[in-house]
Amino acid sequence: MEQLVRDGLVRAIGVSNFRSRDLKALHESLAEEQQQQQQEPKESAADLSTGDASCAPAAPLDRIPPCIPPCVNQVERHLLLQQPNLMETCKQMNMVVGAYSPLVPLTHPLAHTHPMHPAPVMAAAQAIGDAHGGKSTAAVLLAWSRQSGCVTVR
Ligand SMILES: NC(=O)c1ccc[n+]([C@@H]2O[C@H](COP(=O)([O-])OP(=O)(O)OC[C@H]3O[C@@H](n4cnc5c(N)ncnc54)[C@H](OP(=O)(O)O)[C@@H]3O)[C@@H](O)[C@H]2O)c1
Repeated sequence: MEQLVRDGLVRAIGVSNFRSRDLKALHESLAEEQQQQQQEPKESAADLSTGDASCAPAAPLDRIPPCIPPCVNQVERHLLLQQPNLMETCKQMNMVVGAYSPLVPLTHPLAHTHPMHPAPVMAAAQAIGDAHGGKSTAAVLLAWSRQSGCVTVR
């Protein structure tokens, strides 16, 4: 995927359904890769300066492409699944959260059994819509998702 960015075929990398621990593991692996890339030319340059002819010339530092982290994580997120830890991890890693299934509180057949007790939550969402010129509850859920910092897909 990094190569697709370097080749100009895509502008950015995204992942989906990554948990906080998946993102942290990816972050660590990218940091290791980056460290290796930075060390390799330095070691080679040092070898060359001491006359070690067995070492192949290294690429100049500025030609080594940096690691390219994903910029978005698309996950299920809505009023009944707010994912605060994942939101915080993505923020720390400078990643956008893409929220899918934003209307689950309206559409899932078992939503009414959710521990967040959606009846009062949905009544509140409806009241907010009414207070804003008769907007639908779906529009309120989408606005909540966007205003809480997600790029919302539906
Ligand atoms: N990355 C992933 O793993 C993953 C997983 C799931 C989904 N996604 C993506 O996320 C996007 C949205 O997924 P989703 O379909 O779960 O999202 P959603 O928008 O939460 O749900 C769509 C459902 O909402 C209904 N709906 C639409 N407008 C409504 C309204 N005003 N009032 C009441 N119900 C309404 C639709 O009914 P009608 O069909 O009757 O319009 C449909 O059943 C899609 O692009 C999907 O590909 C990604």
